[in-house]
Amino acid sequence: MDLWHGPLPRFVELARSGRIATDMVAAFYARHGAPPSVPEIRSWEQSLTALADIVRDSRLTQSALAIRSTANEPDASAGQHAAAESSAGVSLSAEYHMPLDGRRIDVLLFGTDNARHNRAVALELKQWSACEREDEHSLNVLVERREHVHPSQQASDYAAWLADYHSAFVDGDVHADSAAWCHNMTGVAAATLRAPVFGTLLARSPLFIKSEEEQLVDYLAQKVGAGGGMEVLDRVTGGHFRPSVQVIECLEAVIRAKQEWHLLDEQRLAYNAIIAGIRRAQASRARSVVLVRGGPGTGKTVIAVQLLADALRLGLTAAHTTGGKAFTTVLRSKFRGADDLFRWNMNFAGAPTGGLDLLLVDEAHRVRTTSNMRYTPKARRSTRTQFEELIDAAKVAVFFLDENQFVRPDEIGTTREIEATTRKLGVPLKSFDLALQFRCSGCKPYVDFVDWLLGFSDLPPRSFERDYAFNLAHSPQGLDELLETARERGERARLVAGFCWKWSDPAEGGALVQDVQVGSWTRPWNEKALDRKTYRPGNHPYTLWAETDAGVGQVGCIYSAQGFEFDQVGVVWGRDLVWRSGRWAANKAESHDKAVRGSENMERLVRNAYRVLLTRGTKGTRLLCLDDETREHVKGLLEQVRRGRLQAPLSS
Ligand SMILES: Nc1ncnc2c1ncn2[C@@H]1O[C@H](COP(=O)(O)OP(=O)(O)O)[C@@H](O)[C@H]1O
Ligand SMILES: [Mg+2]
Repeated sequence: MDLWHGPLPRFVELARSGRIATDMVAAFYARHGAPPSVPEIRSWEQSLTALADIVRDSRLTQSALAIRSTANEPDASAGQHAAAESSAGVSLSAEYHMPLDGRRIDVLLFGTDNARHNRAVALELKQWSACEREDEHSLNVLVERREHVHPSQQASDYAAWLADYHSAFVDGDVHADSAAWCHNMTGVAAATLRAPVFGTLLARSPLFIKSEEEQLVDYLAQKVGAGGGMEVLDRVTGGHFRPSVQVIECLEAVIRAKQEWHLLDEQRLAYNAIIAGIRRAQASRARSVVLVRGGPGTGKTVIAVQLLADALRLGLTAAHTTGGKAFTTVLRSKFRGADDLFRWNMNFAGAPTGGLDLLLVDEAHRVRTTSNMRYTPKARRSTRTQFEELIDAAKVAVFFLDENQFVRPDEIGTTREIEATTRKLGVPLKSFDLALQFRCSGCKPYVDFVDWLLGFSDLPPRSFERDYAFNLAHSPQGLDELLETARERGERARLVAGFCWKWSDPAEGGALVQDVQVGSWTRPWNEKALDRKTYRPGNHPYTLWAETDAGVGQVGCIYSAQGFEFDQVGVVWGRDLVWRSGRWAANKAESHDKAVRGSENMERLVRNAYRVLLTRGTKGTRLLCLDDETREHVKGLLEQVRRGRLQAPLSS
């Protein structure tokens, strides 16, 4: 999917007559149901026309025959020439849509090289005329004081992503290359982008500036100039994206450097800033804090795990920490013998100041007021907040935060709190926002729907029916069916529920009590971790629930499910949160979560909890809503979205 594709000569013709942007606006409208932004249209007009101007009379727009004969191929028979002549030369796709909502590659050019290998070049076009770097440690660049990823890096990330996730590249024989073109930038201004630190990057993904048009054309000609472009384009547009692996599944491979995540755009921006912070800390002992914010499934844990792996490779001391026991336990079970790498927020109360080079605080919304526990003796009670302890524990502390995910009254992880603490401690803070939605098959409209439904956003979502399977179960049997279908398809599926039933200790002999009851349908909660027992991460009940078939018959609560993802998730929405008189109301009598029930903020806590539960399924979610009025409300909203009566303003 893109906004325009076709043979290069046709592109040139349209771009030079000023019609390409008009065609692209129409295609954008047809796809998204709203117009693109004005700056975006302007950038198409300017950058694409600039590209058309330089390729116009070049080898790239000549016929495949002419190109092949200049390549002087001795074996090219007359018959082959004729065939080559009839197939197009180079072809192009503008604003190629990645399967992730809103992410588009400026230009992809298709063709073959002289060895007849099929190739695609991701070309990033920038109108920048100047840019700078914050300091010698920085891997991002500043344009009008805003941090950006180096354009060659951006293009290279796209190419790496295609190579790993797109069927035409993975299974087929199309090779992905990349380059960037800053068509308004002159030599002096480009010195920043050509600093020695970018040497390896530029060798892989070259940068061209104003007056280097000829070199750019040469580069493209060398990669895709030998024609056959339409054929390669067809393969790419006819291909599909492979779903990405769940973060826990490849944890070990990533840490052992056998695999890596290809970070994209804002993910890369944040990653680079953190690496720069580490370098700064090494060079001058400067400490820093980085805040990375993003909704569910934007890749916070992916960045954290990639950073952990890369930091270890650089010989640094680093750790990953969360406030949730379940998630940390399973991470530990996935990487044996690395208990030091995966820790709990509570463990940093007595940690030496700056003892770690890098501390990655995942699920930072769950950072608590204090690490003191009910049983902590008076003499050992800390006077510091958990934020202060975590920031002090490392030279660079990174917080991965989703402000709508705190689920207990004493969880204080918010931007405001982090800002206040860093100000108090005098440590500089940088913040980044992740926009791309990766989980839920990259289906941002579904996550937007959940946010809209639960009152976190006023923006009605676009229809998501084609991209994500969300539906209402009419009975608990509907949830059983979901599990069964998933089992047949070899998918991972779990049931989760609001905390509306007591969580009993197992009966004598270890049998789980059927606490969760809906009419005659009963299931146990996930097995409790009993205080008096010691477990290894591999046989801990949380691990067994999330990672083994034992979990299929047990219903997970919010504390077991946060941080995890499964292919399919069945959600039991209890009566602790109901829709009454046009608003959400918390129902204390229906909650069995003591801390939450006793909180003044209960309504917000349960809304957050259901938001987490409803966004754990990567392919589908089935919801059983126990309260009639609430179910009718959900149904009504879903109907509206389905009928497409609502149009969301587009962010891009
Ligand atoms: N750069 C990426 N490339 C491919 N897949 C990604 C990338 N970032 C995230 N994902 C996918 O999205 C899923 C959700 O990411 P995760 O880090 O768990 O999100 P969050 O922690 O923000 O909820 C991952 O398991 C992975 O499948
Ligand atoms: Mg996460």
